[in-house]
Amino acid sequence: MRNLEVVISPALLPFYNVKGKIVVIIDILRATSSMCVAFKTGVEKILTLSSAEECKLFKEFNFVIAAEKDAVKVPGFDLGNSPFEFENPLLEGKSIALATTNGTKAIKYAEENGALNIVIGSFLNIDTLCDWLNNEQEDVLLLCAGWKNKFNLEDTLFAGAVVNKIGTNFKIDCDSALSSELLYKQNENQLELLIRQSSHAKRFSLIHLNTDDVKYCIQMNTAPVLPILKDKYFLNNI
Ligand code: MLT
Repeated sequence: MRNLEVVISPALLPFYNVKGKIVVIIDILRATSSMCVAFKTGVEKILTLSSAEECKLFKEFNFVIAAEKDAVKVPGFDLGNSPFEFENPLLEGKSIALATTNGTKAIKYAEENGALNIVIGSFLNIDTLCDWLNNEQEDVLLLCAGWKNKFNLEDTLFAGAVVNKIGTNFKIDCDSALSSELLYKQNENQLELLIRQSSHAKRFSLIHLNTDDVKYCIQMNTAPVLPILKDKYFLNNI
């Protein structure tokens, strides 16, 4: 029977066996949510990078460059990382280079640690993701991007939602998987209330973010896409 594990911070990834496994990257506020919106809009591919500086280099290759640092859009970039920005129909057919504080770094960690497949998870594509995971053969690691290697609430809540949906098809010998599912089951009817109390939601208030990204990122199944890393780009696998 396949194993299902939850990693609550990229800092813990070295303590897990990643080689040959499917790694689901989770960054609910907001990188993986925004990536799902981008593919729903019709973006062709997404290149994820670890720094805004690297990202900027791709402007000359006709990439749309998107970056945020500490939740704030990096000056001089075409986009920040609000999912609302990725709804723009002008992005259809475009290639995006994306760098974020935690999410794109988590992707790099998963690559460096030998993941077989790297896919993107958010509430926006949860059923599409779970259906795909159920039809694969390999063990699965749900990797929470967290905040600068610290635990964050929303990513682990999402991991718990996935464990709750597909856990009966897996062997679960992982307390973080058990804990994340318990956290989700106790709060599934008040996700917005809970996530609005999260540290990242508070950061949005501090920077006077003028869009309700929390409400946007907890919508269920509004972006039925499956971003998967193929060679060096994320493509929609649906
Ligand atoms: C992250 O990488 O943690 C997020 O993308 C940050 C954000 O978009 O506010």
